[in-house]
Amino acid sequence: MFEDDATETRPQESGLDSREQELLVLGIETSCDETSVAILSGSNNLLGQVISSSSDLHQRFGGVVPEVASRAHVQAINPAISEALRLSGVAASDLDAVAVTVGPGLVGSLVVGVAAAKSLSAVLEVPLVGVNHLEAHLYANFLEIADLPLPALGLIVSGGHTMLVNMVDHGIYEVVGQTLDDAAGEAFDKVGRLLGLEFPGGPAIEREAAAGDPGAIAFPRAMKKEGFDFSFSGLKTAVFNYVSKAETAGQALNIPDICASFQEAVAEVLVYKTMRAAMQLEVPTIFLCGGVAANGRLRVLLSEACDANGVFLSIPAPVFCTDNAAMVACCGYYRFIRGIRSDLDVNPDPNLPLA
Ligand code: KG4
Ligand code: ZN
Repeated sequence: MFEDDATETRPQESGLDSREQELLVLGIETSCDETSVAILSGSNNLLGQVISSSSDLHQRFGGVVPEVASRAHVQAINPAISEALRLSGVAASDLDAVAVTVGPGLVGSLVVGVAAAKSLSAVLEVPLVGVNHLEAHLYANFLEIADLPLPALGLIVSGGHTMLVNMVDHGIYEVVGQTLDDAAGEAFDKVGRLLGLEFPGGPAIEREAAAGDPGAIAFPRAMKKEGFDFSFSGLKTAVFNYVSKAETAGQALNIPDICASFQEAVAEVLVYKTMRAAMQLEVPTIFLCGGVAANGRLRVLLSEACDANGVFLSIPAPVFCTDNAAMVACCGYYRFIRGIRSDLDVNPDPNLPLA
C-alpha cells in the first residue's frame, strides 16, 4: 500500500497538534496536462491556486501527447509556483511542507513536479510529502467539508481511472471495483474525437448534450447489474458503429442526441453501481470525484439517487474535480499531520496503486 512505501519514514510524534490549523502546505500537481500549484492553510483554507493546462497544445492530436505535456510542465512550473505564492500572500520561507503527486500518471509529467517539489523541500528545509493522485482526488471532497464522516464510498472517475473505493479511514482504502478497459473520461474523450468535438471530450460532449435527447439512442449499459467493475469500451464501440452506419446510409448525424444518449449511458451505469455498492457495504456517505465528476448530468443523477436512498453525497466544485493542486495540498496536509514524510530520493511511479 502507498502509505507504507519504503521511501517514507514516520516520526514517532508529529508534535504539531496545536498548529495544525495554521500549517501552510504548498501542493504541486503535474500528473497529466495540468500544471497546478496551490497553497493551503490548515486542511481546507485555500489561499491561492494556479492551474495552467496544456490541453490546447494537444487539441489537434485528440489526446494528451506525453512529450508535449512534459515540455509544457517544464515551462509552466516555476512561474506557477511564484504566482501561487503571490496570490496567497505567503513567503516561501513560511511554508511548513511541500506536497506533490508522485503517481499514477505520465512519467515525464510527474517527474517535473516531483523535481520542483524536491528542490523546494531541500532549499526551504521543509518536509516533502508524496501524494497518490487518486487519493488526492478523494481529498478534493475535504476541501469543502473538513470533517466529512468516514467510512465513505468514493467514485473516482477521471481520464485514466474509474474506481469505486471504500475510504475506511484517512489513508485506508479498499478498492471495490474498477474499469476492466477504458476509463469513463477516456470514453468521453474518444467519443468526442469521433464526433469531431474539441479535446477534452467530456466538457464538449456535455455542452452538446444540453440540446439533445438522452433517450434518443439506446446505447448499451454494459455490466450494469454485474459486480462492481465497469466496462466502457463496448459503449464506445456502439457509438462508433452507430456513427459509421448512419454515415454509410447517408444520414445526417444528430450530434446533440448522440452526446446526450452517450452521456446518459455512462452516468446511469456509474450511478447504479455506486448506489448498489453503497447499499451492500452499508456505507452512509458517497464521495464523487475526478474530472468526470464535473459532469452536470452525473452530478444530478447521483444526487437524486442519494436523496432517494438517504445517503449523504459530497461532490467537489467542478474546478476541484478536474486536476488541481488544492486537492494535492489537502491530501498532503492529512498525510503530514499523520507524520508521513517522503525522502528526497522519492521517484515518480506512473503506476502507483491506491491500495
Ligand atoms: O481528473 P482529470 O482532470 O484528469 C485525470 O486524472 O485523468 O480528468 C480528466 C477527464 C477527461 O477525460 C475529461 O474529458 C473528463 O475528465 N471531463 C469530463 C468533464 N470535464 C472533464 N467528462 C464529462 N463531463 C465533464 N464536464
Ligand atoms: Zn486526475
